[in-house]
Amino acid sequence: GFFIGSAVAGGGHHLEQDYPDPFTSDKKYRKILKKQFNSVSPENQMKWEYIHPERDRYDFEMADAIVDFAARNGQVVRGHTLLWHSQNPEWLEEGDFSQEELRTILREHIMTVVGRYSGRIQQWDVANEIFDGEGNLRSEENIWIRELGPGIIADAFRWAHQADPHAELFFNDYNVEGVNAKSDAYYELTQELLDEGVPVHGFSTQGHLSIQYGFPGSLEENLRRFDELGLSTAITEMDVRMELPESGEPTEEQLDKQADYYQQALSACLEVAGCDSFTIWGFTDKYSWVPVFFEGQGSATVMTDDFTRKPSYFEIQSTL
Ligand code: XIL
Repeated sequence: GFFIGSAVAGGGHHLEQDYPDPFTSDKKYRKILKKQFNSVSPENQMKWEYIHPERDRYDFEMADAIVDFAARNGQVVRGHTLLWHSQNPEWLEEGDFSQEELRTILREHIMTVVGRYSGRIQQWDVANEIFDGEGNLRSEENIWIRELGPGIIADAFRWAHQADPHAELFFNDYNVEGVNAKSDAYYELTQELLDEGVPVHGFSTQGHLSIQYGFPGSLEENLRRFDELGLSTAITEMDVRMELPESGEPTEEQLDKQADYYQQALSACLEVAGCDSFTIWGFTDKYSWVPVFFEGQGSATVMTDDFTRKPSYFEIQSTL
């Protein structure tokens, strides 16, 4: 009843490469993905720019392949994501649509994508990163909120629920591990939506941590307050990055600290009844997004480039 997941490196984006991608071409990668996890999350392949590259064209190839892989291997899938400010196709961001057209575009997208995988997705990140660090809605950056107002968030949940009544529908964000302005904003919004009967079922924190910033000590308390609202909770994109020394190799001390962060996060989730899903954002440093997005940082996952298990791996294993 507990799900240990990994993001699936289906290629593209930070990997800056065309097919063949790790998921299809790296045998060792595939084998570990199959044997060590019972949940998978497409890292990019269900995002708008991949799955809906042109207004009248969807590309389900990789998303289908990942969902089929999961089914064959008895794994559940976390769908990611439907309403986000990032990784949207140009036709959408640069298009000149009326409000009515945009609403129709979002509804059709959700009905099509969620509908296609209906019954095969355990949890959907319906709305991703809708608040900024101060707890304000990203009403400039997020095309949907900007053009259609905050009410569109509830609609997205309603449409997703219509398209797949069995999927658990989540809010997902980073820097909401602990109790802070941003997680407070989710807490309030969630309560409002639940009062209105909107089908919101979960709150998840991504868990992109860094050993420089200290472990977010109120993680368990935060998960628990959402749990008490009756929501499922999850950690969905855990990695723990670090500033790499000149040599490019992390020190033993850094790796131990990292292992401690993974352990603390997993323990917090295990303590909270409705937290039964813990996903790491890739399991090998080889394909991690971290070095590409955070200059000078890396070694964020639980295995090295050559799939050697790091202290974090063993710590997770012994915590379970
Ligand atoms: C990242 C992917 O790992 C990269 O491949 C891509 O280039 C950018 O996005 N929060 C999220 C994820 O919700 O979708 C992001 O994934 C990491 C931060």
